[in-house]
Amino acid sequence: MSEKDIIPYRPGLEGVTAGISAISDVIAAENRLIYRGYDIRDLAKHCTFEEVAYLILMGQLPTRAQLEQFDAQLKSQRELPDEVYAVLRALPRGGNLMAALQAGVATLGMLDPTADDHSHEANLKKAIRLTASMATLVANGYRILQGQSPVNPNPNLGHAANFLYMLFEREPEPLHAEVMNLTFILYAEHGYNASTFAAHVIASTLADIYSAVVGAIGALRGSLHGGANEAAMEAMLEIGTPDRAEAWVMEKLAQKARIMGFGHREYKTGDTRAVILKEYVRRVAEQTGRMDIYQIQDIMERVMLREKNLYPNVDFPAAALYYMMGIPIPLYTPIFAAARIVGWSAHVIEQHDNNRLIRPRSDYSGPRDLPFVPLDQRG
Ligand SMILES: CC(C)(COP(=O)(O)OP(=O)(O)OC[C@H]1O[C@@H](n2cnc3c(N)ncnc32)[C@H](O)[C@@H]1OP(=O)(O)O)[C@@H](O)C(=O)NCCC(=O)NCCS
Repeated sequence: MSEKDIIPYRPGLEGVTAGISAISDVIAAENRLIYRGYDIRDLAKHCTFEEVAYLILMGQLPTRAQLEQFDAQLKSQRELPDEVYAVLRALPRGGNLMAALQAGVATLGMLDPTADDHSHEANLKKAIRLTASMATLVANGYRILQGQSPVNPNPNLGHAANFLYMLFEREPEPLHAEVMNLTFILYAEHGYNASTFAAHVIASTLADIYSAVVGAIGALRGSLHGGANEAAMEAMLEIGTPDRAEAWVMEKLAQKARIMGFGHREYKTGDTRAVILKEYVRRVAEQTGRMDIYQIQDIMERVMLREKNLYPNVDFPAAALYYMMGIPIPLYTPIFAAARIVGWSAHVIEQHDNNRLIRPRSDYSGPRDLPFVPLDQRG
């Protein structure tokens, strides 16, 4: 490579195009998000998660017959192999669920004789299986880490409602199932974010989809990415009551701290997913008698906009919704993973279908030409 081919370094790769993708588009200037050509607002209003997963993986919306077949495939693959349960049971009680997901997905990969078949068809099959199993891994993985026994998936329920059923061992209220379905849709895909890009890098070495997903889960865990939903909820609990919200935000900003759940690398004038969820925060707050949480969010939003011109991202309302629905905080980022498995899988398929090793360069900033000193002469 000649000097003229080298593109100057951009911290965080901000503004750098790292691939071509037909899966989703963030049209930041219009606060729009598109999955395979369809506006997320239409998908959120009309679709089940299964329908959107089909769209993202197959590239087009399903017919009713295609959706029924896809739904049956997902349902038949919800249960985890015994070996995965054995691994989950061997993990430390109370351990980190994101790490347990990594162990679970790695085990699924070891059990799959087709793991190294990177053909489109084989990858699609694995993607469907991973989508079906990830929700079970999250719900039953959490139960096992808490010392509880796993709950069998309920074939009479859709993907989102079944997730809540496994977690709580009872059928969810319709509004909670609707919220879970909605957040699964909104979390399903988001372009070349950090975890998806990590999946691309891993897949580009011709490693298998399971390896790529294990790496993506690791990238999602950090608080600047998926971990923000848990951190945002911890902040709201620390605030405690609406009357303390403004002072809390002002104090954090004065300390130059980051308020989790605000800001976004792509959206600078609002995250459309957060706008969709806000109305649900109000509805669930009314239903559960937690208007205090709605009010805390509302005040934080107004102060952040006034002081920093920053808008909430999807993690901010999602955290409040999960909390009010009684979901323990350590599950929030794993739930994000259970939805994003669809996007990760679609991206791995895209990478394998048209692969080129991802291998950027770095600008060296260390010394050169140091005189070598043999070991016994070094002081
Ligand atoms: C998501 C995030 C990493 C994107 O950041 P980015 O594109 O790298 O933007 P920058 O870090 O350059 O931030 C630009 C400015 O906004 C500030 N800012 C950004 N997000 C902020 C936040 N959540 N709280 C307080 N200030 C924030 C930065 O401090 C910086 O201010 P400055 O110019 O006075 O130094 C960032 O907004 C953030 O850390 N948010 C909190 C974590 C989060 O919610 N992540 C989930 C994303 S979906």
